[in-house]
Amino acid sequence: MKKIVILISGRGSNMQALLAANLPCTIAAVISNRADAQGLQIAQAQGIATAVVEHKAFANRELFDAALAQTIDAYQPDFIILAGFMRILSAGFVQHFYGKLINIHPSLLPAYTGMHTHQRALDDGVKIHGCTVHFVSADLDHGPIIIQAAIAVLQDDTAETLSQRLLAEEHRVYVQAVRWLCLEQVTLNALDKVDFGFTKQIGHALFSPGLE
Ligand code: GRF
Repeated sequence: MKKIVILISGRGSNMQALLAANLPCTIAAVISNRADAQGLQIAQAQGIATAVVEHKAFANRELFDAALAQTIDAYQPDFIILAGFMRILSAGFVQHFYGKLINIHPSLLPAYTGMHTHQRALDDGVKIHGCTVHFVSADLDHGPIIIQAAIAVLQDDTAETLSQRLLAEEHRVYVQAVRWLCLEQVTLNALDKVDFGFTKQIGHALFSPGLE
């Protein structure tokens, strides 16, 4: 059985969805860079080991990343699941764990990397927004894509309503992606492409606004 660790910085709703999903893996630990991350208490209440590596305790990113890597390595995980982990990881860290680091980002990558994705989508007037689960590469919010979910942007949406609607889909796709990884139905090949061990495809389009 595969072993995963989950990295969080705050609320931890994606982590909670993963904990609730009865995944075919061992969840070895939840690690946070902030001692006050709400998700830590949720994990502890479910009997999951937790650890804190406070980024503020380190003089620079490289030292923090080295301490974080050491903490992760102690668990020997097959995958490191970033779930609202709000630190940019150094190239050395990404290299050390390449192929094992998975992230969820609240946009249809490669659009809207970085912060404030919902507001930026609204400002641009896009009609379809979404989220992406991907292998992490050294470039921020880039890397081979595993799954995306798209949702319609509604006329009266605010960044808040849009993010709330998208979060429900984030939980679904993250659970699905981690399940695939644990069952080796999704793998990263030598050309940095994602291979799928199944062929489920959908043929219909999402129209937004809807067609008359
Ligand atoms: C999610 O929107 C995720 O896509 C982004 O940060 C947010 C974390 O939310 N990376 P939560 O902590 O999982 O509730």
